[in-house]
Order: sequence, then structure tokens, then C-alpha cells
Amino acid sequence: MTRYFTPQILAGKRVLITAGPTFEAIDPVRGITNRSSGKMGYAIAQAAQQAGAEVTLVSGPVALPTPRGVQRVDVQSARDMLAAAEAAAQHADLFIATAAVADWRPANAAAQKIKKQASATTPQLEFVENPDILATIAATPRARSGQLYCVGFAAESDNLVEYASAKRKRKGIPLLVGNIGPNTFGRDDNELTLFDDQGHKRLPRASKAELARQLLREIVQRLPG
Ligand code: CTP
Ligand code: CA
Repeated sequence: MTRYFTPQILAGKRVLITAGPTFEAIDPVRGITNRSSGKMGYAIAQAAQQAGAEVTLVSGPVALPTPRGVQRVDVQSARDMLAAAEAAAQHADLFIATAAVADWRPANAAAQKIKKQASATTPQLEFVENPDILATIAATPRARSGQLYCVGFAAESDNLVEYASAKRKRKGIPLLVGNIGPNTFGRDDNELTLFDDQGHKRLPRASKAELARQLLREIVQRLPG
């Protein structure tokens, strides 16, 4: 029903969205993860589908239903998310990275469950850095030539304007969406600030569904061609 009342601003476009946290195994039953409900990414996926896009949603573990008409690919680790996103990015026109990717993973995940009693000391975990999914895809020829428009998200605890502007440039992307966390985690509303090469612009507090629609309008205005 909604579709009939929604302007089809993304008709014919393929949209890739990453959402939720990643989960990095320590052993078969334990791991580390990031705080993310996935709600913002899922709201964008739904809004993009309603605006006429063909949507692939690469999702870490979340407790959310799949938005109607969206193709969802479930992943656990950052490396799994990278592989799924790279595959979908080959055909996408727009990539929106909302996932809260774990920056590090345990260097050596144990094949068997680590037993408390087997050791007198606590486990000492060593970490290695995970791939940067957004920066990797933003560096591909399709993204660099403007065929694939890349949008990043950044939750900062402070200094939003300074950190988000620098992050946009570092990732090599035309648009970065910032918000002040962690007070927004899991909530149904949010407020966003858009950073591009012109400066920044605020989208005032609204539901994540409404912000998703506003964000997609802002993106469409910036798409090349
Ligand atoms: N991102 C990603 N892959 C990673 C880390 C981040 O794709 N390994 C994406 C996120 O999905 C988000 C953007 O990059 O769209 C910014 O994520 P953020 O965690 O804020 O940036 P980092 O570069 O990891 O910097 P830091 O966590 O130190 O602030
Ligand atoms: Ca990070």
C-alpha cells in the first residue's frame, strides 16, 4: 500500500546496505561484538525498497524482521560481511554502510570451547584489525568512477563535526552521516548530520523511518547524472 503513495525516487536502482553489528568469535560459544540494534539500517532498507529500489541488506546478528521485499544476507564476522558486500557491490548503484563493524577480532579463534578449569590464569586475547568494508568498496573502480555512490555512517561520542568531516575524507566517500551516540542506540528516533564536500547539514530529531526517507531524498539529489 505504502508503495503507491511513495515517490519512486529510487526506481531502477540497486541499493546495498550493511546493518547491525558484527560478531567476532573467541571460541565456538564466545565472541566480541559492537552495540547496534540495526534499526537505522533496516529503516533505510525499507524506505529504499518503498522508493522503488532493489535492495540487498547485508546484516549482522540483530533481532529485527526482514523488511518486506528486501533481499537479506545474514553474516556474522566483519570478513563475512566484507565478502557479501563486495559481491553485491559489483551490481549496486548505491552503497549505504550503517553497520557497526567490530574494528578488531581475536587473532586466533579457538576451535574448541576454552575451559575455565584448564588454566590457572584468565585468557589473554590478542587482536588483529578487521578489514574496513566501506573504505575497501569506496576504493574500487566502480565507486571511484561514480557508478557506485558510497555513504558512510559515524556515531561519535563528542566532537561530531571535527571527527565526522575528517572521517569522510579518510574513507574517500562523498557523503557521511553522523550522529552523537551512544544515546541513540536501540531507540526508534535519532537526529543526523550530513557531511559532504560543501559542509554539513542537520536533519532534526525524528523517527528512524522518517529520517530514512529524508536521507534517501538527500542522497538522490547528490547522485551523479
Ligand atoms: N566501517 C566499515 N568497516 C569497518 C569499520 C567501519 O565498513 N571495519 C564503516 C561503518 O559501517 C560506517 C563507517 O565505516 O559506515 C564509519 O565507521 P566508524 O566505526 O565510525 O569508523 P572507523 O573508521 O572504524 O573509526 P573509529 O571507530 O575509530 O571512530
Ligand atoms: Ca569503528
